[in-house]
Amino acid sequence: MPTKAQVIDALKGVVDPELGGNIVDLDMVSSVEIGEDGTVTVGIALTIAECPMRGQIENDTARKVRAMPGVTDVVVKTTAMTKKQRAELMSGVRRRARENAQPTQVSPLTRVVAVSSGKGGVGKSSVSVNLAIALQRQGFRVGLLDADIWGFSIPRMLGAQERLEADDETRLIEPATVHGIKIVSTGLIIDSEETALMWRGLMLSKALEQFLGQVAWGELDYLVIDMPPGTGDIQMALSRLLPQAEMIVVTTPQKAAQKVAVRVADMARRSHMPVIGVIENMSGFVCDHGDTYELFGSGGGAELAYDLNVPLMGNVPLDAAVVDGGDEGIPVTAGDPGNRAAEAFTGIGERLVELLPPAADETCTGRIAKLLDDLEIPV
Ligand SMILES: Nc1ncnc2c1ncn2[C@@H]1O[C@H](COP(=O)(O)OP(=O)(O)OP(=O)(O)O)[C@@H](O)[C@H]1O
Ligand SMILES: [Mg+2]
Repeated sequence: MPTKAQVIDALKGVVDPELGGNIVDLDMVSSVEIGEDGTVTVGIALTIAECPMRGQIENDTARKVRAMPGVTDVVVKTTAMTKKQRAELMSGVRRRARENAQPTQVSPLTRVVAVSSGKGGVGKSSVSVNLAIALQRQGFRVGLLDADIWGFSIPRMLGAQERLEADDETRLIEPATVHGIKIVSTGLIIDSEETALMWRGLMLSKALEQFLGQVAWGELDYLVIDMPPGTGDIQMALSRLLPQAEMIVVTTPQKAAQKVAVRVADMARRSHMPVIGVIENMSGFVCDHGDTYELFGSGGGAELAYDLNVPLMGNVPLDAAVVDGGDEGIPVTAGDPGNRAAEAFTGIGERLVELLPPAADETCTGRIAKLLDDLEIPV
């Protein structure tokens, strides 16, 4: 069973998108009660009762807390702040804005999804690029961060050639733009084996810190992160740097992936990263005659989703076009959207948007204006 302090720690991953801070720092968490049966009740004071972000904050809170071991149920009770509380909140928001406490360049409005797995070579990078393209094709502003610092494959898969450069004035690195997506990868920085060696001395988590803190990501709806194989340091560093990050797990159709499930669940818990869903990759191979061959077995994705108690977001068939697209730098979802695998990626992109809708910023202005109005501050 988690302690109150641990629950509060997990709640730092819930961001009020309008106010640009997490609900703990914003003093919006009014109470945390942990029942003996594992039910956690979280009280949240919203700035105004009819807050348009209410649903999103409630859902994010429930997901973050439910990801903790021992938690059986989460009840979120929202109340509206008093005028005095609101005034205090706003002065806190202003103070933070002044001190520029935000440790990364990733906007709090950006939804962050880390594409992970319990083992290597299951198609994390292929899923990351195709998912990023699928989201971009839906009209979203998308970034793709290659967190596989030494095993990078994103530049090749997207055919990115350009070198990253820092802006003279801001000193921030400008991401490369390929296929309409902003990307950053160690592969776009190092240009010889020698510099690679020099960089290798840097701690992995330091490199990630740089990629999040010194890159001008701008306003993105989604930031997809291609995670390295393994379940260690980078995951922990990511959750520390970007508490709003959530995880998608890629797996293969092989059954008896029980060990993988345990590993992934453990990783999610240690890093407070809720799992949004599972993607089964390399599912059946469909031959030209339309017959399906289940080369790697079947049911592994559904089984893992069941074990983790999250939805199976889709099955991507085994298809040579995925390999070719990666080798040619034109992911199949961009180059041949009608292909079966591409259609699966497109469907997964749509499912992601349902499960983790973009932070609704169109309501911001209206709400903040009302807030300022309420506080009798001239706009
Ligand atoms: N659906 C698919 N159909 C056919 N080949 C695929 C599919 N998905 C991935 N592959 C191929 O499998 C190989 C491994 O994929 P990928 O590099 O995306 O995996 P990864 O999980 O990122 O690996 P690593 O753990 O090394 O980072 C690549 O050659 C890729 O082209
Ligand atoms: Mg990879």
